[in-house]
Amino acid sequence: MVFFIVFTLLMQIYTTGAKIPAIIVFGDSSVDAGNNNHIQTVAKSNFRPYGRDFFGGKATGRFSNGRVPTDFISESFGLRPYVPAYLDHAYNISDFATGVCFASAGTGYDNATSDVLSVIPLWKEVEYYKEYQKKLRHHLGDQKANSIISQALYLTSMGTNDFLENYYTLSHRRSQYTITQYQDYLVTIAESFIKKLYGLGARKLSLGGLPPMGCLPLERTTSFMIGNGDTCNGAYNKVAMAFNRKLSGLVKRLNTELSGSKIVFSNPYPIFQQIVQKPSSFGFEAAAVACCSTGLFEMGYMCDQYNPFTCSDASKYVFWDSFHPTEKTNRIISRHLFKTVLSKFL
Ligand SMILES: *[C@@H]1O[C@H](CO)[C@@H](O)[C@H](O)[C@H]1NC(C)=O
Ligand SMILES: *[C@@H]1O[C@H](CO)[C@@H](O)[C@H](O)[C@H]1NC(C)=O
Repeated sequence: MVFFIVFTLLMQIYTTGAKIPAIIVFGDSSVDAGNNNHIQTVAKSNFRPYGRDFFGGKATGRFSNGRVPTDFISESFGLRPYVPAYLDHAYNISDFATGVCFASAGTGYDNATSDVLSVIPLWKEVEYYKEYQKKLRHHLGDQKANSIISQALYLTSMGTNDFLENYYTLSHRRSQYTITQYQDYLVTIAESFIKKLYGLGARKLSLGGLPPMGCLPLERTTSFMIGNGDTCNGAYNKVAMAFNRKLSGLVKRLNTELSGSKIVFSNPYPIFQQIVQKPSSFGFEAAAVACCSTGLFEMGYMCDQYNPFTCSDASKYVFWDSFHPTEKTNRIISRHLFKTVLSKFL
């Protein structure tokens, strides 16, 4: 019996690893650390007032006033308090050995989504990751590099743009798929993406879910303008919940299919919904409008540091711009996900 318990414990340590040596990030603007600064797109945020509460007040290209969730998660695992962007020349492979971000604002699971703003498609994020593996092996040798690759925690966060920037804005996908079919199409892409990472050596993965995307200030403003009153877009929230259920099912299935893997579903929806519904209980004063400019529709280049409406204390706001949470919201959500889901990887 004792032998069995010890054996089980050892197997757990063997299969999950005692410690996370690196955080590796894929996704969209919810986690982009500045890769878009280095490509030709309008989806950028490497200027004030973005980053005004980041280390050194630096506008890194993160779509927030400060850090994004993956930065906080890296810190929670005892790693660097932020995850640097792969395309940022200020960092090299010795920095990336403990954390690297391949995410690109404006992208999604669907190739057609990344085309909208000419950002990095998901398949190309994976190509950059392959290049990273080569550099890591060259830098640390095969054995050390392979150990990092298999023990690292892979965090993915995307999907909102597939629905809001692509499906509901442009007609092409809408003419091909019903909303249910489109969700299923995205899930097949998520599945082959995870299998690709697994094939490349990843074993510990967190698949991120969608936020209540009908409550983003931009969607509220649009909802208001078409006469639905000042509320969240309930239809979009329903789609987010349905898609999250499908992702959760996918995670369950892949855990049994991909031997030696440990995959979790990190669902920001419930905690995010609580924050939006009862902002005051989290110390916020505003959830319907964002801090930047009028808070109704501005993001990216429309967030101007000289706009007199921009708030002075972002920690009173749930949203930083009309599409992205403030650092404080990001902190609350990532602490919650760490406590409830990701600490399994400790
Ligand atoms: C990475 O950059 C640091 C200084 O920022 C330097 O000391 C180190 O040698 C560089 N490493 C590689 C592998 O280029
Ligand atoms: C997306 O584009 C890449 C590169 O052209 C291609 O290899 C991949 O199959 C495409 N994905 C889907 C789901 O069509």
